[in-house]
Amino acid sequence: MPEGAQPARRPEGRNRLLPRASRSLRLQLLAWVVLPLAGLAAVNLWTSRNGAFATADLVTDRMLIGSARAIAEQVSMIDGVLDATVPPAAIEMFDTGDRDSVYYRVETADGRLLTGYPDLPAAKGRAGSDTTYRGQALRLRSYSHPIFGAGTASPIVVTVGVTLSGHDAMARQLWFRAFAQQLALVLIAGLFVLVGLRRGLAPLLKLRDAVRSRGRTELAPFSVPEAQSEIRPLIDALNVYMERVRAQMAAQRRFVANAAHQLRTPLALLSTQAAYARREAGADARDEALAALQKSSGRLARLAEQLLTLSRAEPGSRRPREDRIDLTEAARGVLESLAPVAVSRRTDLGLEADGPAMVTGDGTMLREMIVNLVDNALRYGRAGGKVTVAVSAIGNEAVLTVADDGPGIPPEERARVFERFYRVAGAVEEGSGLGLAIVREVADNAGGSVRLSDGPAGGLTVEVRLPIARG
Ligand SMILES: Nc1ncnc2c1ncn2[C@@H]1O[C@H](COP(=O)(O)OP(=O)(O)O)[C@@H](O)[C@H]1O
Ligand SMILES: [Mg+2]
Repeated sequence: MPEGAQPARRPEGRNRLLPRASRSLRLQLLAWVVLPLAGLAAVNLWTSRNGAFATADLVTDRMLIGSARAIAEQVSMIDGVLDATVPPAAIEMFDTGDRDSVYYRVETADGRLLTGYPDLPAAKGRAGSDTTYRGQALRLRSYSHPIFGAGTASPIVVTVGVTLSGHDAMARQLWFRAFAQQLALVLIAGLFVLVGLRRGLAPLLKLRDAVRSRGRTELAPFSVPEAQSEIRPLIDALNVYMERVRAQMAAQRRFVANAAHQLRTPLALLSTQAAYARREAGADARDEALAALQKSSGRLARLAEQLLTLSRAEPGSRRPREDRIDLTEAARGVLESLAPVAVSRRTDLGLEADGPAMVTGDGTMLREMIVNLVDNALRYGRAGGKVTVAVSAIGNEAVLTVADDGPGIPPEERARVFERFYRVAGAVEEGSGLGLAIVREVADNAGGSVRLSDGPAGGLTVEVRLPIARG
């Protein structure tokens, strides 16, 4: 990203469709904990409502039976006549401040009304029952009580009914208490989730701040000692990545320094040669100086070209190309273009191939790779010697070998010659030390490998293996 550029604010692709809230971890977890809990609480609330009403029913029924029993116990035979006097306590026990009306009726077994409301219906069954009386909902309960010596009038039946204000108030109160408890439970759970998340996410936020506040060149590893085991791998991965960036930057710095150094020496030479040419008076001597100058500038141009090729071969510098390339054809082209060099060194340059060997990659770079290999073989091989380029398809690999019969490279140097600017000590031929670095870079990019070995004729054999293109 160029300096000063803002990161894209709007998320790309699928995420853009998601509402902002659902991308918050905090809200997501809160929703996952609190919503199901609230659902459970709602179900529980419904059952507790039924429970509250059942309890109120039970309590009301107990009071009704108590009241009926108190009334029945006051009924007695006085001078052979049944006397029913209702004790005030039997009515007052319903006076709970809810202004309920109480109705009662006392009748004999043979259906004679002793006292109370004649039209009050009898309760059905042994438990309390609900009915409507004078336009009001009523809970009723009947109680039968034997009276000694009352004959067919015994047992008497006492029915007591009460309106439902007190009953409903009690049920509501019980229910409300349950409601308040559950609401508190859900709220407390939500609060704990938030507090837990705040504490849990703290290391992650700390890491974010640490990453954000970093300068562009500050590449020390991040350290968040309090990070949990789930976050630790992220930090480790980040640090591995930072290490890679650091190595990359160091390599880049070395490369620029090396390149500058490589350019400086021939430029100084060029300047000296130019000064020398100017000083020369004789036409021949001047011509000679100018020829030397031309040679130096050619060498310099070649160095610049190699630098450019290497930078192009680096991954990410060009759009990756997936050309289908016939390696045999490419090698033939390179051999044709280098034939004059071979002739000037009296080298027998030949190609051995059974047929096409198709690979995928960047055509220009693959040709550049072959140029560098053949150029090395011609340059470092024996003058008047033999250089053989062979292309073959073995299994699912295309194998290109360039073999010469020169001095070769000592085994202990073979790993190092691939390094940028590295040249085997004492090399008399001119060069930059970039050729084999380019070869390796190109082979890597095409998914292949390079190997150096002793040639059958004592020289060096370079073997490049690339995957065969399918189809
Ligand atoms: N075919 C070869 N025979 C002997 N030595 C070689 C051969 N190819 C490369 N080398 C050695 O490897 C070194 C690195 O080669 P290279 O990366 O192509 O750089 P350059 O050719 O510019 O020196 C060369 O300096 C040379 O000493
Ligand atoms: Mg070279």
